Amino acid sequence: MLNPVPTLSKVPEGYRHIGVTPICGALGAEVDGVDLSTDVSDDVLAEIRKALNEYLVIFFRGQDMTPDQQKAFGRRFGTLNIHPVYEPLPGHPEILQVVKEANAINNIGDTWHSDATFLPEPPMGSILYAREVPPFGGDTLFANLYLAYEMLTEGMRHMLSSLNAVHSDAFLTQVNAERNATRSTKLRGGQMEAKETIHPVVRTHPETGRKCLYVNEPFTVRFDGMSAEESRPILDYLLAHIKRPEFTCRFRWQAGSIAFWDNRCTHHYALNDYHGYRREMHRVTVNGDRPY
Ligand code: SIN
Repeated sequence: MLNPVPTLSKVPEGYRHIGVTPICGALGAEVDGVDLSTDVSDDVLAEIRKALNEYLVIFFRGQDMTPDQQKAFGRRFGTLNIHPVYEPLPGHPEILQVVKEANAINNIGDTWHSDATFLPEPPMGSILYAREVPPFGGDTLFANLYLAYEMLTEGMRHMLSSLNAVHSDAFLTQVNAERNATRSTKLRGGQMEAKETIHPVVRTHPETGRKCLYVNEPFTVRFDGMSAEESRPILDYLLAHIKRPEFTCRFRWQAGSIAFWDNRCTHHYALNDYHGYRREMHRVTVNGDRPY
């Protein structure tokens, strides 16, 4: 019998410059009272960071940003990542154009994942700006990896505490021609070497000090020191556990919406349920540090 899932969200306290409204018990809050196309003050920025640490993914509505303004906002949180395997928006190497044309079959991001964990220093966060949305569908789901960790048994947490896992970009780079045939956001052409890196299975968040479960479906391929076959049953258990609805929230986009997620303690999943319609988002990704 599983324990009931504690509610993470609380009535927001200590915000003087922005409005913060939680959208779910597990994670996610809408933030209002800020125009992200402007050079926001340090006080506002500090509250945005506080909201991100408390709610893990924060949403803004009605924004109107040029690519340069979106990059300028992202740079307030760190240096920007140039995606290692996807083609960027022409003229803007720091912007990933997440697009599905009306006649495309597949989208990108339709697995529960954290961005680019195959990098030795995976991104701290991603800022996704909706430019064109379908009339229905195309929502993005998010999951809280602190809760996923905290809701494991003590025995499982103890076992995982000494494990590291191998993360690889093979899911993207070893089938790039096949993926590019059905998706509008293109992987760089040509044969790429698969790259691997190792991260702890339980990660400590560098700002909150809380522990979270740090494995994901497309990029975590095995536990370090074990074969893929030996690792699979436990990995499958953990990946199914992370998807429990009680650990998630779901965001309905409008043109001008922004989702800013903390990539260190969340997963996200882009639903592909809007066939025949175009969806275009611009993603700015902020570099992070080596997980410990
Ligand atoms: C992604 O960054 O994985 C895509 C998210 C989305 O398109 O909603």
